[in-house]
Amino acid sequence: MPRELAISFAQQPRRTSALTVIYVAEDKSPEGRAGEIWARTGLDFQRIAASAGFGGRPGNALDIIAPQGLESDRLLVLGRGGQGDALSDTAWCDRGGSLWARIEATRAATVTVVLDEPKLSARGVAELAAGMRLRHYRFDKYRTASGDARSAGPETVEVTISAGRLEGVDAAIADRDAVVEGTLLARTLVNEPPNVLGPVEFASQANGLADLGVAIEVLTPEDMDKLGMGALLAVAKGSERPARLVVMQWNGARKGDAPVAFVGKGVVFDTGGISIKPGASMQDMKGDMGGAAAVTGLMKALALRKARVNAVGVIGLVENMPDGKAYRPGDILTAMSGKTIEVINTDAEGRLVLADALWYTQDRFKPRAMIDLATLTGAMLVALGHDHAGLFSNDDTLAGQLQAAGMASGEKVWRLPMGPAYEKLIESRFADIKNAGGRPAGSISAAQFLQHFTNGVPWGHIDIAGTGFGAPNSEINTSWSSGFGVALLDRFVRETCENREG
Ligand code: BES
Ligand code: MN
Ligand code: ZN
Repeated sequence: MPRELAISFAQQPRRTSALTVIYVAEDKSPEGRAGEIWARTGLDFQRIAASAGFGGRPGNALDIIAPQGLESDRLLVLGRGGQGDALSDTAWCDRGGSLWARIEATRAATVTVVLDEPKLSARGVAELAAGMRLRHYRFDKYRTASGDARSAGPETVEVTISAGRLEGVDAAIADRDAVVEGTLLARTLVNEPPNVLGPVEFASQANGLADLGVAIEVLTPEDMDKLGMGALLAVAKGSERPARLVVMQWNGARKGDAPVAFVGKGVVFDTGGISIKPGASMQDMKGDMGGAAAVTGLMKALALRKARVNAVGVIGLVENMPDGKAYRPGDILTAMSGKTIEVINTDAEGRLVLADALWYTQDRFKPRAMIDLATLTGAMLVALGHDHAGLFSNDDTLAGQLQAAGMASGEKVWRLPMGPAYEKLIESRFADIKNAGGRPAGSISAAQFLQHFTNGVPWGHIDIAGTGFGAPNSEINTSWSSGFGVALLDRFVRETCENREG
């Protein structure tokens, strides 16, 4: 008996029709179960493929409408590419994404996807399902007009993956789905407009994870003032909306196991402050909390899949505004660590938020590793564009683990150098350090700044300014924000925290 699995997507009402999807390898005819299905149509495959230019390559498709001999209203034949070689996880995920795009275009209500691969694994099926869900995501809650293609589709699409006998498919799907949920939460937080999502509203979203067993604490400006968080609080001074620091704890491993900590920049909107940004694209700065969103999404993923790890997520939530009460260039701040910081540019605010969030995290939790995510520098976008995030680290082992997790998850990172020559860029005339080092190596001097607040803990800094939002559409994402970091760090946790002995 073929194993069947149903995935439903909520849609707007319309007609119903049934679709069957089969895959055909490069330069082959339909084989196995796909071959049986094709045979029932009585059609001449070679002739149709030749005249339609179908070669079985990824992206190739044959769309047979009202096929004789089949109950389905439509038979979609998709190219699978080279036969025999097992696909990577990311290739399965991408395949799921492009599959969903095809399905959506047909507006079918019920879909059967026949997978008949020589090297099919439960994990491959789970990645396919994940790719479909990630591609399905749209952020259209603020659209009142309903003229787009999706609203013309059926209310729910029932997708059945028919994959033969496979061990552990349900568990693999549930596990992968937890990470998808985290990614989608991160995307939505980034997509939400800044008038809707301020620090308080973000904190209450994070508080929702309490239902999943995540312990949540929310610190107010008064709490942070007592802790001496003079850097984070300075950034918040120009905003009417008070800052928050949210601490999320997922304890899935033994009590007393040192946690791994994740720290996120959560600037809900970055005007630049008194060093105000130019107007062009300023609306994008609603996404300047992408690091905090990824950390929150990650905590959701870990809780949903009950990860066997002790993990801490700390996010600093502020708004950077120009105002009579705002901090200024020239101000000298004292961070929680005791270090003094000369403000050169109030638009270099993210590192000030992280300075206190990082120090607090290592001081309170003594983590075995600390990884921060931040849309930190425009220079990162200039250096690496949208395809890799920048990685900075004081620990080669940790850096290697993060690079490997990037390759495996498809959320890739590229390591950049650090060192004493770059440290010179942030030497201050008046204080211990200054918050901006000028244009050359702008992403590196930001990382050097952060390193001052890590207290020697193995640390990784991931600058997602280019990857968090604004990337061109991919197979698995057509939304403005990407949710970058959730899948990467989930993979890191799996490989380096959960796979250990003992
Ligand atoms: N949030 C920005 C960085 C950013 C820019 C992220 C574009 C995503 C897209 C950050 O706070 C910032 O303004 N950085 C300054 C630092 C400079 C003043 C030293 C920058 O990159 O120009
Ligand atoms: Mn800024
Ligand atoms: Zn910023």
